This record gives sequence, structure tokens and C-alpha cells, in this order.
Amino acid sequence: MATGYRERQHMHRLIIAAALLAAAACATTPAPATAGAALYQQYCASCHGAEALGDGPAAAALRTPVPDLSRISARHGGSFPAARVHEVIDGRAALPAHGSRDMPVWGYEFEARSAAGAPGRATAQALTTQLVDYLRSIQQTGQEEAARP
Ligand code: HEC
Repeated sequence: MATGYRERQHMHRLIIAAALLAAAACATTPAPATAGAALYQQYCASCHGAEALGDGPAAAALRTPVPDLSRISARHGGSFPAARVHEVIDGRAALPAHGSRDMPVWGYEFEARSAAGAPGRATAQALTTQLVDYLRSIQQTGQEEAARP
């Protein structure tokens, strides 16, 4: 399992490096929600699923159940906890209380792979904010499945 995790981390690094190079080559900046959607499909869909329902192809290999990200608001009484979501994605401020974290620490990944010369921390913050905006935009209303992890 530990080897698998390292391999996944390695794949993440390759993917992130390629994505950031592609992003740097783009002349125009897409709207935040569009940018967030693209980032999501690139970095997150493998585990959380293309529709963010927690059913990505890599989910079965993890010890931790992968949460449905379209129901974060539903699990929080109908309001989207943006600051907390930001911290979970960034990963540096809010590691879960339980020992294992299957979710990559994106703050370090994004920062380490920022284009040369760019302020890494600011870039990581901006990418994380785009992801938070995207997740906010895909929240399903209704709390009927609020108990689902
Ligand atoms: C390797 C699989 C994997 C990838 C890739 C992944 N996640 Fe996760 N994510 C998880 C798991 C597992 C959890 C449950 C918490 C844990 O790690 O114990 C989680 C939890 C979360 C949560 C907390 C949800 C809640 O309601 O508490 C958010 C938000 C989240 N992920 C967003 C993202 C975003 C955004 C990306 C892409 C940048 C991403 N994840 C990529 C596996 C992954």
C-alpha cells in the first residue's frame, strides 16, 4: 500500500508539472469557475469522480472512503464552508484528526510545481481558491443524503 501511495504521489507530480506548464503557456486567464473545473478534472476526478460523487476510478484503492464533493453544503446544514474546504484542499492547516490522510496535500504540490519565478505560495492559494469556487458551484441542494460520507 505504501508503495502504491508513493507511485500515486509521483504520478501527481508529473501531472501537476505538465498542467502548470500548460497553464503558463496560456495567454488568457479563464473565468475562475472554468479554471476550477479544469483543475478539478485534472487533479481530483481520479478519486472524487468526474461528477464529484466520490466514485473516481482510484477511489477503490484507498483505505479511506472518498467523499461526495457535490454534497458538502448538504452535510453542513445547507451552507458551503468555503474556508474549511480551502484548508482541506491546501492540507497544511487542517490535517484530519485520524492518523491516515489519503487526500494529497495540494498546497505543497501546487507550490512546489509553480512556474519558475512565480511566487509559489500565492500561486498555490490562487489555484486552491479556483477549486473552492468550482466546488461551491456544483453543490446539490437538499439534505436527504446528508448522512452519506
Ligand atoms: C488520491 C485520491 C484523492 C485525490 C486525487 C483527491 N482527493 Fe480529496 N479526498 C480524498 C479522500 C480519501 C478524502 C477523505 C478525507 C481523508 O483523506 O481522510 C478527501 C476529502 C476531500 C475533501 C473534504 C470533503 C469533506 O466534506 O470533508 C475535499 C473538499 C476534497 N477532498 C477536495 C479535493 C480536491 C479539490 C482535489 C483535487 C485538487 C482532491 N480532493 C483530490 C481523496 C482524494
